[in-house]
Amino acid sequence: MLEFILPLFLGFLALYLLSMRFRRTRRDGEPPLIKGWIPFLGKALEFAKNAHGFLASYKKKHGDVFTVLIAGKYITFIMNPLLYPYVIKHGKQLDFHEFSDQVAPMTFGYPPVRSGKFPGMCEHIQKSFRLLQGENLDRLTESMMGNLMLVFQQDYLSGGSQWRTESMYQFCNSVMFEATFLTMYGKPAHTNRHSGMVTLREDLVKFDNMFPLLIARIPIFFLRGTKAIRDKLINYFHPKKMSSWSNTSGFIKERAALFEQYDCLGDIDKAAHHFAILWASVGNTVPATFWAMYYLVIHPEALAVVREEIHSVLRVSGIEADLNKDIFLTREQLDRLLYLESSINESLRLSSASMNIRVAQEDFSLRLERERSIKVRKGDIISLYPQSMHMDPEIYENPEVYKFDRYIEDGKEKTDFYKDGQRLKYYRMPFGSGSTKCPGRYFAMNEIKQFLSLLLLYFDMEVVEGQTACTQDPSRAGLGILLPATDVKIRYRLRRE
Ligand code: HEM
Repeated sequence: MLEFILPLFLGFLALYLLSMRFRRTRRDGEPPLIKGWIPFLGKALEFAKNAHGFLASYKKKHGDVFTVLIAGKYITFIMNPLLYPYVIKHGKQLDFHEFSDQVAPMTFGYPPVRSGKFPGMCEHIQKSFRLLQGENLDRLTESMMGNLMLVFQQDYLSGGSQWRTESMYQFCNSVMFEATFLTMYGKPAHTNRHSGMVTLREDLVKFDNMFPLLIARIPIFFLRGTKAIRDKLINYFHPKKMSSWSNTSGFIKERAALFEQYDCLGDIDKAAHHFAILWASVGNTVPATFWAMYYLVIHPEALAVVREEIHSVLRVSGIEADLNKDIFLTREQLDRLLYLESSINESLRLSSASMNIRVAQEDFSLRLERERSIKVRKGDIISLYPQSMHMDPEIYENPEVYKFDRYIEDGKEKTDFYKDGQRLKYYRMPFGSGSTKCPGRYFAMNEIKQFLSLLLLYFDMEVVEGQTACTQDPSRAGLGILLPATDVKIRYRLRRE
């Protein structure tokens, strides 16, 4: 009998304690509070199902600032982009790294960086991000161009000009994953390509499927098989193995040298840090490449303009694209591809659903406008959800429509977008905001541009008839670029001119 009663009693006790912990009431000066009726979880399930629709409906009901209980966290959403600058400039009282420092080690399997065991490591890691930008970006971009050419030449450019079929996501993933990997980590001794790339890529997809649960801090042991897959992925980056690779980027080399300075960081811990960077460098870039390609392929008129722009940029430099030779676009040439850039930005606007998170370091009053402020409690999360801005019809006319030249005006980049008659400082935010903005954003844009340029120069492409329009899988809402719900079959062939 006791074996039935005891678990029942413990279950009720846990629920009671949880409901006590989450019996919060709204205090004076705080935003409206939405808790739902399920202790701890609050509104997590509704949010996960359709975050954008969920936030839009509460905005209608409660205005542009409200607090929601989601999986044990009180999250205050700032829904008006005119208020974003007040959150983004609040560096000291609102901290990004507190959240990422808790979640990233659990997700990727390395010891917490800020635990006191690794003095100075956090600052050095932040400093290493400069190696993804500025002059270093030239080297990365050059290396990526060569690696993309290598993968295209060996896997897709031989075999005549007959039509072939492929799954589009699979295609983007196989090219971008390997070319990015080679650019970041270098090539193995005595050969140009690593063995086991397909398995590594497939394992990363399996890990990525569990990513939303890991970020929600579900212990990895509850996610069947995920720990074994993560161990396998981490082992790929064992320092002994990596030391035989050449042409490694300055960014990864500097990080590897930094980890060597910490005796208490084991080889597997170092490998787990490198694995985390693999995820950061392809986890969003591959789906972003997919959407950029998909929208161009289903809009042939946009594709024709972008293709002509690439030809004309090459022509200005005295280069006629010769499909029998390697094509090389420099960083300056990539910078001049305005229509291509606008088309990528438009697909990022439509597909990105990242949540910008800041954790309140103390109880304080957050000023939002000259006359308005809200009270915030220590430990609460303040969140921006840019997808709501990206889909706001006041800012973007017909926001659900893909308009490849939306970010071009009078032959230049368009940067003025308005809300309530006021010009917005922030109008497109797939890469986050403020000091924590994605350090790989310039590299990501360049590599997507390079991939699409080669694709448009080398291939004719079309979607195989009879498929329904591709929709977004919402399971990554809040975490970055959404994945397609299903893959798309395409036909492609080598162009003759
Ligand atoms: C389209 C592709 C990409 C998208 C949409 C993207 C998006 C993001 C976002 C939203 C964040 C969090 C920023 C914040 O909350 O303020 C982030 C962080 C980060 N991203 Fe990216 N990213 C992309 C590609 C890359 C690439 C190619 C790399 C590396 C080569 C990279 C490296 C990182 C790193 C290291 C961080 C953590 C920064 C920190 O801890 O301060 N990302 N990214």
